[in-house]
Amino acid sequence: MIELDKVYFENCLETLSRMDNDSVDCVITSPPYNMNLRIRNGKYCSRQIVKELSTKYSTFDDNLPIEEYNEFHSNVLSELLRVSKVVFYNIQIVTGSKRSIFKMIGDFNEQLKDIIVWDKGVAQPAMQKQVLNRRTELILVFETDYPISRQYKYANFERGTLNDIWEIKRGKKVSKNHGATFPEELISKILENFTKEGEIVYDPFMGTGTTAIVCKKMNRRFIGSELGKEYYDFILERLSELNNEIQF
Ligand SMILES: C[S@@+](CC[C@H](N)C(=O)[O-])C[C@H]1O[C@@H](n2cnc3c(N)ncnc32)[C@H](O)[C@@H]1O
Repeated sequence: MIELDKVYFENCLETLSRMDNDSVDCVITSPPYNMNLRIRNGKYCSRQIVKELSTKYSTFDDNLPIEEYNEFHSNVLSELLRVSKVVFYNIQIVTGSKRSIFKMIGDFNEQLKDIIVWDKGVAQPAMQKQVLNRRTELILVFETDYPISRQYKYANFERGTLNDIWEIKRGKKVSKNHGATFPEELISKILENFTKEGEIVYDPFMGTGTTAIVCKKMNRRFIGSELGKEYYDFILERLSELNNEIQF
């Protein structure tokens, strides 16, 4: 049984295994980007952490071999599409995610509704020459009910009011140990345009809990999963601070 307004400290696939078909209205999430997978001599080279470049996740290395990373997305996405009508899957093209993103777009082309480009305004300088500076992230939008059309079945916006490039500055760092947090504006834009008050939103990779915080502020119900104990504790702290603010 899954409770609302609760974050589960576990692998999201475990939470998903207890969730019924079509039991949430929307998924908003950002999976790990496989940030630390490198290429050496023209081949992916996992299991080796470049400390000074690595993302600071305390719980995992974020460098799965590419086949395992492909499988990870495929398993998670299939489950997300079983439980939710619409899925906003935010991911950045980096060395370790590039192949998987392109594969996911192909494998799930029948449910892929749209690709929204999140423009952060400032590019991350590339580490090497002949590499594009990365200023954007992608939001792959999947829908199960009406994917053939460009028209969203569950959306609130009027004709001509919402573009496919979202200019939103990178989020404030809310935790020194988590580099990749959602800006609140990104979540609120999705909630405002694609959900209604009281609807249920699931984030399988909660990180610092931004999805939960914005859901609370905008009167949506949330469910979350997070594997890292440190992040899980941090989410509980953030939620309790918000509860105290709301009471005063
Ligand atoms: C890119 S971050 C998400 C950041 C989040 N959007 C925020 O605003 O803070 C990905 C998170 O997923 C967590 N994670 C990785 N694998 C997981 C899994 N299988 N199940 C649940 N959480 C996982 C990591 O610990 C990390 O905090």
